[in-house]
Amino acid sequence: MRDLGLPISISSTAPLAASFGPRGDAVQNAFTLACFLFACACFVLSLKWLSEPKTARRGNHIGTVGMLAAIVGALMSAEVVQYQWIVLGIIIGTAVGVPMALLMPMTHVPQRTALSHAFGALAAALVGTAHYYIEFSSAQTPSYIMGILCTEVLLGSLTFTGSLMAFGKLQELIPTRPVTYRGQNIVNISVLGLAVLCGVLLSVWPDQVWIFPILIVLALVFGVMLILPIGGGDMPTVIALLNSYAGLSASLMGFVLNNKLLIVAGALDGASGFILSIIMCKAMNRSFTNVLFGAFGQVKPSSVTGDKKPVKSTTPEEAAQIMDIANRIIIVPGYGMAVAQAQHKVRELYDQLTKRGIDVRFAIHPVAGRMPGHMNVLLAEAEIPYDKLAEMDEINGDFAQADVALVIGANDVVNPAARHDRGSPIYGMPILNADQAKTVFCIKRSMNPGFAGIDNELYTADHTLMLFGDAKNVVAAIAKELADMNGR
Ligand code: TAP
Repeated sequence: MRDLGLPISISSTAPLAASFGPRGDAVQNAFTLACFLFACACFVLSLKWLSEPKTARRGNHIGTVGMLAAIVGALMSAEVVQYQWIVLGIIIGTAVGVPMALLMPMTHVPQRTALSHAFGALAAALVGTAHYYIEFSSAQTPSYIMGILCTEVLLGSLTFTGSLMAFGKLQELIPTRPVTYRGQNIVNISVLGLAVLCGVLLSVWPDQVWIFPILIVLALVFGVMLILPIGGGDMPTVIALLNSYAGLSASLMGFVLNNKLLIVAGALDGASGFILSIIMCKAMNRSFTNVLFGAFGQVKPSSVTGDKKPVKSTTPEEAAQIMDIANRIIIVPGYGMAVAQAQHKVRELYDQLTKRGIDVRFAIHPVAGRMPGHMNVLLAEAEIPYDKLAEMDEINGDFAQADVALVIGANDVVNPAARHDRGSPIYGMPILNADQAKTVFCIKRSMNPGFAGIDNELYTADHTLMLFGDAKNVVAAIAKELADMNGR
């Protein structure tokens, strides 16, 4: 936060540094550095703890403490020349952020994350732009500084528009389907190539100020074009990738500002976002290029042709009777449970079943729902014990011994076509072996497909019984029936 020469009267703002004198400056900067070091340690611990459902809450808290330390350290820095705009920013940010956090439902977390990335990236791009025009637009600026600055602005700008587009698709403000046209990839790569060329030219001739706005416009346009061909359902993966770009941009901003905290925090953000998008792609058995250029989510005809097998449906009462005599039940939650906000009713059902001595566990697919850890978060919110949640590899061998598999609003993650149908878009994706249980109940509202847009042969299997309806209502009805049975 150096004096950027902005037209603000320093004398009117009582700069903290000025009131301490040079020795005070040194003490202040040592304090700032200590805060930054503490914040870095908190961020590393936060990432470590966030990777386990058991410690995730702790990870969230330590990350918040780290961020607070970073803010306090930055505000106490001797380089802060005035506070009035910072206070205004804090007031506006709080006024927007607090209601957003309180009012936004859990299913909307991906789009909220997209918005945060958009504004974080915009901040990085604006800081880079300000620094260029104020400090670095002379012919003497070293090429490596310009290289870093141009990359920061390029990534920040494309992440800004890309994240806004991702937000728009997830919020269904713009069409969620992939928008494609002939030669799209060539056009996209050309726009990116031109933006990179502008960066190279500026690194060689930093005083050619007319190139800078072109670089920004090309990057902003590329952000929009990058997201157009990607379907709404792939947005969480893209958001993780944009997260990584925003982190990288912040890290580069740290080099420009000589701010070590930004360098470390940005690098952590960039690396974790990148790793997360790789994990998500792997769990969906998709490649990066398929997510970015595959136009996945377009309506495709089902690869299963011929006569459709009949579907058997049942009632919550019948389902309760079968569950009542079961020894082992595995519950498979999916996106539908999140949409219906059925987790608290699932907890009631869990209580009813465990009261009878039935062994109940939850099988968690890594990409069930629409964001990483979606099911873990919802089940934790309903206070289902963590040790009852099992990852796919851990529980897949147990389905064969389960009396009942209860699939609640999950579809693609239990679709056996992934194992054998080479023409299926989900072929090769590891799935939960729900079909191996003795009896399978599937709760959903209709025979509509899930995210991948394909039929699910599990629903027509001989031992599957469909429970049609909203997940919250159906689960509540089963739990009530079991409770009534107790009373009889
Ligand atoms: P999906 O395959 O999307 O299926 C969800 C099912 O829930 C739908 O078939 C829908 O059927 C049902 N449903 C919706 N609202 C419901 C409600 N109120 N009550 C009951 N059922 C309801 O979900 P999944 O099995 O969880 O699989 C996730 C998919 O998303 C995978 O294909 C995965 O690759 C993809 N994906 C995941 C992520 C992450 S990180 N989790 C990221 C990107 C993509 P009805 O409409 O008939 O009710």
